[in-house]
Amino acid sequence: RIARKHIHCRGDIDMLTIPLLRIYESLIPPEEEKEKQRQLLISLEKLVVNEWPHAHLFLFGSCANSFGVSNSDVDVCLVLRDADIDKSEILLKLAEILQSANFQNVQALTRARVPIIKLKDPVTGVSCDICINNVLAVVNTKLLRDYAQIDVRLPQLAFIVKHWAKSRGVNETYQGTLSSYAYVLMCIHFLQHRDPPILPCLQETKIVTYHKIVDNIECAYFDQVEKLKTFGSDNKESVARLVWGFFHYWAYCHDYANTVVSVRTKNTVSKRAKDWTRRIGKDRHLICIEDPFETSHDLGRVVDKYSIKVLREEFERAATILQTYPNPCEKLFEPF
Ligand code: CTP
Ligand code: MG
Repeated sequence: RIARKHIHCRGDIDMLTIPLLRIYESLIPPEEEKEKQRQLLISLEKLVVNEWPHAHLFLFGSCANSFGVSNSDVDVCLVLRDADIDKSEILLKLAEILQSANFQNVQALTRARVPIIKLKDPVTGVSCDICINNVLAVVNTKLLRDYAQIDVRLPQLAFIVKHWAKSRGVNETYQGTLSSYAYVLMCIHFLQHRDPPILPCLQETKIVTYHKIVDNIECAYFDQVEKLKTFGSDNKESVARLVWGFFHYWAYCHDYANTVVSVRTKNTVSKRAKDWTRRIGKDRHLICIEDPFETSHDLGRVVDKYSIKVLREEFERAATILQTYPNPCEKLFEPF
């Protein structure tokens, strides 16, 4: 591995930017899809407020973090002020209400790690998951959306990486591969560490403009991102070079044994410092991606000794294809 670390990027890499951007553009959801999601939220809000007058609904996940491709499910969080609630009871009640309102395929998954309701809106055809009081997810959604405003190369890279992960079957947490959320954090981290950097560390700037305490966790960062629009402009790297660089980094350069990917800080975070060096229960920490706010949470904990191999082989495959194929785009996203 070490010997292959210093491969240089192919000379004509920038030529791949046009086909890659074409793929990126084809993945962006059309405005009418966004409109359908807003309509769904409004009809859900009416039903919810009717039963719980102080409740609020928030969109989170890919429909709100600006990393959503076309036809994604909508993630909704129901926030009830009362902290002392029985989530299962609320979910069952809500499921009943939704069923009477003619939503389709209503299912309450009360025993999941994050209990949710799944449903389909017959009017818009949109599928949706509803969870309760997952305010951290609403806040980390805003963080991702804010990062996406700073440099368009982040959404471009992340859409391409997510599309690759879905095509290659490595975006399935129940099979030991990574969530979309983890991939976006990996992209942010990668762009924070370019030379010169393309993204800042929003949680490390001196001025805090956004502050919230959620579940005893302090969420604070600089969110006036319109002032950072030129942050990455000294870096002229093309999207193609960044896509290649991303896969090359994860194939040959990342120190899986010792380091944690953290977008929270510019410093390198070591696995030792977090005590993520050994298996504890089911958590093996074979690839470590720290949640920006819930810093005790390793998003790589789902990865096991089998799936780490699958992931690393997929990173190598992608890097090799981009490096050597005359027309790599089709091959890169070939279904596994
Ligand atoms: N989330 C989280 N912690 C995780 C996984 C997810 O807080 N371990 C939250 C994040 O707010 C994330 C949202 O749940 O934005 C949805 O996660 P995920 O389905 O991974 O990402 P999406 O952006 O919705 O991607 P997709 O387009 O694949 O649906
Ligand atoms: Mg989602």
